[in-house]
Amino acid sequence: MPKKGKKVTVIGAGNVGATVAYILAMNGACHHVVLRDRNIEVAKGKALDMSQAANAARMHTIVSVAEEAEGMSGSDVVVITAGSPRLPGMSRDDLLMINAEITKEVVLDVKKYAPDAIIIMVSNPLDVMTYVAQKVSGFPRERIIGMAGILDSARMAHFIHEKIGYGAGQIRASVMGGHGDDMVPLPKFSTVAGVPLSDLLSDDEITEIVERTKHGGAEIVGYLKTGSAYYAPAKSTAIMVEAILKDTKQIHPCAVLLDGEYGYNDVVTGVPLVLGAAGVEKIFAVTLNDEQTVKFSKSVASVTSMIDVLKNKNFFN
Ligand code: LAC
Repeated sequence: MPKKGKKVTVIGAGNVGATVAYILAMNGACHHVVLRDRNIEVAKGKALDMSQAANAARMHTIVSVAEEAEGMSGSDVVVITAGSPRLPGMSRDDLLMINAEITKEVVLDVKKYAPDAIIIMVSNPLDVMTYVAQKVSGFPRERIIGMAGILDSARMAHFIHEKIGYGAGQIRASVMGGHGDDMVPLPKFSTVAGVPLSDLLSDDEITEIVERTKHGGAEIVGYLKTGSAYYAPAKSTAIMVEAILKDTKQIHPCAVLLDGEYGYNDVVTGVPLVLGAAGVEKIFAVTLNDEQTVKFSKSVASVTSMIDVLKNKNFFN
């Protein structure tokens, strides 16, 4: 028997989910992409379109639709994008209850049909949905990873490039904490080809970049009006999928359940970690200065308060 190919299921075939599937179909990171969505017709149309694109690109990846949840069986990775999108005027937190219920339903399916899969959470509010996925599945925290740090860092890198006008592709921006308005962009940990940001920009310019990064999602919602960003979120997700499938053991900022790191327990937030075949293979507790520590704790507190809302509504009982 030939070795089974890598299989990735993407739940939610909206803009983010479909774009993740498309990127995976185009770059050959896996052999089989399965799309699953409440709207089976739309999922079928997109899967057919992507399959044809894969043929045009001479790629081997098959894209199909799982009409029933058991179609996700044998997945190495399950990407969860299902949920109500963040619409104009809606904070990520407004989505809390709606998306917690959707996440619970979907994660119970993953637990039943793909119990060995690594789950990548993408639905908002991201850190809380990652927490919900961990609690509902009971999977070890290494196998429940939230996508946001790669996205937020990429946004910051782009804003740095816009300011300085050079160094595209060489900018390493760092963002930690939750994927919310209290996220913690870290200019002191950001460089352009090794040159510290503080040697390239004034304090005011750096502050502007930090603020724009924090509201990077809302800026795009403001333009699109009827939805939120999807190219950068999808690419960031696909990077995580690839790191896992190819066992690259590269460091990425991702959301994970903390178990004592930074002095926190039972909360999810974004931290630098190593992604590999086992999922999260190492978590780094980087040394933060006083100012960074205050910002990080504020960000963690805002995730905790949302988790508490769910706990108070007996969501986990
Ligand atoms: C974003 C929203 C959707 O960051 O969280 O684009």
